[in-house]
Formats: sequence, C-alpha cells, structure tokens
Amino acid sequence: MQLLQLAGMGWISRSLSVAARLDIASRLVDGPKTPEEIAELCDADPDGIRYLLRVLGVVGVFHENEDGTFQHTEISQQLRDDHPQSMRHWCVLGGEMYYDVWRDLLTTVQTGKPASRSEYGSSIYAYMDKDSDAGEVYDKAMVDIARPAAAEIARDFDFSWVNKSIDVGGGSGHLLKTILAAHPTMEGVVAERADVAERGAKSLAEEGDDDLSRRLSFTPVDFFEKVPSGGDAYFLKNVLHNWSPESSIRILKTIRRAMVGTVEEHEGVGVEPTLFIIEPLLGHDNVSSIRALFQMVVCEEGTRIRSEEDLRSQVASAGLEIRSIKNLGTEHSVIECRLARD
Ligand SMILES: C[S@@+](CC[C@H](N)C(=O)[O-])C[C@H]1O[C@@H](n2cnc3c(N)ncnc32)[C@H](O)[C@@H]1O
Repeated sequence: MQLLQLAGMGWISRSLSVAARLDIASRLVDGPKTPEEIAELCDADPDGIRYLLRVLGVVGVFHENEDGTFQHTEISQQLRDDHPQSMRHWCVLGGEMYYDVWRDLLTTVQTGKPASRSEYGSSIYAYMDKDSDAGEVYDKAMVDIARPAAAEIARDFDFSWVNKSIDVGGGSGHLLKTILAAHPTMEGVVAERADVAERGAKSLAEEGDDDLSRRLSFTPVDFFEKVPSGGDAYFLKNVLHNWSPESSIRILKTIRRAMVGTVEEHEGVGVEPTLFIIEPLLGHDNVSSIRALFQMVVCEEGTRIRSEEDLRSQVASAGLEIRSIKNLGTEHSVIECRLARD
C-alpha cells in the first residue's frame, strides 16, 4: 500500500463504525439492495450510503454488484448483531471513542501521557460514567472480543470444584454466562463499576433466562477498594493490561483480601480460593507494539506491555503465587494463582 492510501486509513475505521451504527449489515440479510433502499431503511442519504459502502468495499467489507446494488461479503457478515462472531460494537468503539482518543496521539508521543486525559480530561472509565451510550457500546464491544476466549475456557477447564465464581471487572458478564452455562450448579457474581453493573443486571433480566438470573448477579465495586469475598474462583480477564504496574498490584491485593475472606468464611475447610488472571503476555515484537502504543494512548499513565516475568513479579508483590500458566488458542494466557504460602 502507498502512503497516499495509508494516510487515509483512519477514514476506513470511521466508515466501519458508521456502517455498524446504522446497522447496514442487518438490512442486507435477505439479499442485495440499492443505496436508495438501504438509505430509506436507515434514514440516511443515498449518495452517503453509496460512497460509504464503496469505501468499505475497498477493504472487502460489502460488495457492489454490476447493477449498483450492494451485498454482504464474508467479513461484512460479522457486522450483524446476530452473527456468532459479531464484531459490530467493536467496530463502533474503534471508530468512535478509541478513534477520538487517538486524535491526540501527538501528546502521548511527545509527553508519554495518555491522550485519553487530554481528550476527555479524565480516564475513559470516568468519561463513560457520564456518557452512558459510550459505556454501553464499550460493554458490548468487550463481549465481541471476549467470545473466543470465554468459549475455550468454559470448554477446556475443569471448574467442577467451584460453587461460586466472582468475575472482577467482568463487564456485562459474558465470561461468567458462558462458564455457568457449562456448569449448571455454579453461582456467579460480576463485580463491576456501578454503571456497568446496572446495565449488566438490566440486560440479564431482559434475556428472560430464569435459571441464569437465579445463579448470576451483578454487584457494584471499585476494585481498588473492595471486591466480594466468598468466591472459590476469581476471574480477572483483560483488566490488568489497562493499568500501570503499581495499580495492577493494588487490584491484585484487593482480590487477595477477598480470597482471604473466603478462607475465613469457610473456616479454613473446603476449596482453596483460586484467581484466574486471563491476559495476553507479550514480547517486544512489532505486533505487540501496536498494543503497547494503544496502552500509552488510552490507558492509565505508566501502563506498558506485560511479559510473563512482569506479571510474576506483580503477583508476588500482591501476596499471591502462580500455580500454572496455560496458553489459549487466542492471544491469552490463563494464569492460575493462589494465596502465597509464607
Ligand atoms: C477491558 S474491560 C474487560 C471486561 C471483561 N473482563 C472482558 O474481558 O471482556 C475492563 C473492565 O474493567 C472495569 N473496571 C475499570 N475500572 C474499574 C474499577 N475501578 N472497579 C471495577 N471495575 C472496573 C471496566 O468497567 C471494564 O468493564
């Protein structure tokens, strides 16, 4: 690709998010349509739709037929909400909140400080506390990218010893919903920021699954302060990579206190509480550097790529010890931790 095209890559990201917002993918489920027909269905301008879909066609998302109608490609199918590997909300997030934050990449590169601060004057989480639409998109985008790892964990790990699981920073509960579906007597709690917990509980109720609603609940927490005790298994998935080493140790210490609480509640008898950290452990190749720069731009100041060695040191500083590390078929590793023995 030439610089001429590369310079416009941001327009592709924005175009994807607009197509996802307008839900063009669901309008094409029953076959090709003209731009006029699509525009009518999503209350848009026909020429705007025509050029938007032609731009996306350049990267294989939607295809224009000789008669001027547009139809799905294999990739564009993933913009449908009902696709099993839907990426619709991830595309909205990439072309909206993340795109807006990347606008100030220059500040990050010049000062090392996150562009999220200069763009929003706060962390993205504080921003989403005030903008519930952005928060809802973020929750759903996290589900989009969590599906493959959640399915693999629920399928390949033996949780038959777990009565109660607590997912710290568990978003709208996709991981626990998947694990609970595979373990019919397990109970689960998603411990999340208040607005995420409220939205998660609401959508769980709307799903109308009585069995799941009986076994799964959401509780508002600040994981720097306190998370519930009583869990046999604690999960912490895709959380630590948003935080500096110091903040990561604080989060791990909060979970450690909850695990000690579990031991006390069980009076030392019963299962040993276990924390499963699910994270990509990265090296210093160029692909990992895309993530490294993302962390500098979007996450807390001081957040950097985490290698296995970094994680081992943070886990030890929090009074935990690693029992095993298993790599998933996704980019994640599952790091099984227990309370450190003195
Ligand atoms: C990258 S998302 C991961 C969500 C989910 N675990 C997953 O893998 O899809 C990080 C999560 O941490 C939550 N979070 C951030 N700050 C938090 C805090 N202080 N207390 C509790 N949760 C927090 C966010 O709301 C968000 O859902």
